[in-house]
Order: sequence, then C-alpha cells, then structure tokens
Amino acid sequence: MEFNPEVLIDADEIAARVKELGERISEDYKGQELTIICVLKGGFIFCSDLVRRLNVPTKIEYIMLSSYGSGKVSSGEPKIELDITGSVEGKNILIVEDIIDTGNTVNFLEILLKQRKARSVKLAAMLFKPGKSRYNIKIDYLGFEIEDKFVIGYGLDYAGRYRELPYVGILNAGH
Ligand code: IMP
Ligand code: MG
Repeated sequence: MEFNPEVLIDADEIAARVKELGERISEDYKGQELTIICVLKGGFIFCSDLVRRLNVPTKIEYIMLSSYGSGKVSSGEPKIELDITGSVEGKNILIVEDIIDTGNTVNFLEILLKQRKARSVKLAAMLFKPGKSRYNIKIDYLGFEIEDKFVIGYGLDYAGRYRELPYVGILNAGH
C-alpha cells in the first residue's frame, strides 16, 4: 500500500526553528544548569535535536505517560508508565513535548514536578493545536502552532507508526 502523507512542516523548516529555540533557551538559562525531561515516546526526536542546539550544562531525564491508547482521542487522566530516575528538587526543569493538544499530559506533569519541589518548570513543545486546551498552559518555547488535524512524523505516531518520518505530515483519511 502506497503511503503519501501531506507534508505540513518540512525537515528544513523544523531544523531552522529548533535552532532558534535552542539559542533562546541557551540565552535564558545562561549560567544555570538545566534538567530536561523528555516526554516519551513522541518527544524523543525533538528532544534529541534540541539538546544539540544548547550550550548550557544539561542533564536529561525521560518520562512516559499514557492517556491516548492507540486511538486518536484523548482519554482523560494520564498515567505514569515510566518515571524519571533522578530527583527534581531545587532544579530548573524544561519539559520537552512533541505536541500540546488538550493539555492534559503537560498539565499533569507540571503539577507533579511542582509537588516534587522543582525550582522552576518551563515547557518546550514542537507543536500546539490551539482551541482544545481546557487548561491555561504556557508554552515557553514553541515550534509551530498548527490547525486541528491529526499529525504524524518527527516523533508523532498513529497507532505506534510513522514516528521516524523526518517531517510533520497530516495523516490521510483511510490510513
Ligand atoms: P494532550 O494530553 O491532549 O495535550 O496530548 C498530548 C499527547 O497526545 C501528545 O504528547 C501526543 O502523544 C498525543 N497527540 C496529540 N495530538 C496528536 C496528533 O495530532 N498526532 C499524534 N499524537 C498526538
Ligand atoms: Mg507525547
């Protein structure tokens, strides 16, 4: 079966934006140490590109939360599937997410990190779909705002597939 998703944001546009975000983050955290929390699975590609654009001392942690199952619709309260291994107490945390949709995941994570006494919590997200969030989420470092379509690639999946695509594409109807 041939698969030709419509390209929404190509690899060059992504790379240019990630470079800009990396420069801003490096400037904002100058002289400080940063702990990145990469939100798995989708955040892994954005995170790996972004950290290579930083020039502040950085530690990286991984967390995996689930709420989506294998469908396209959010299913409420996220659950911790895999937790970070280090303490966040007193640390500057930057959450790195693939996409903010309802805001459920990141809202849960921000509350969790504050309960665990992080010193500061900021958010970097590659994509944002405005309009659906029930929370007042502040995205400190945003790649692109996109319309409310289901996207794949650059870490984002549909039913576990397409994460490896080097661009952000729109999933065609019928797939
Ligand atoms: P939220 O909790 O509704 O903000 O959604 C967060 C998670 O849902 C993201 O980290 C993604 O894993 C997934 N998600 C939301 N929208 C999309 C999409 O368009 N394509 C693929 N995954 C998505
Ligand atoms: Mg995700």
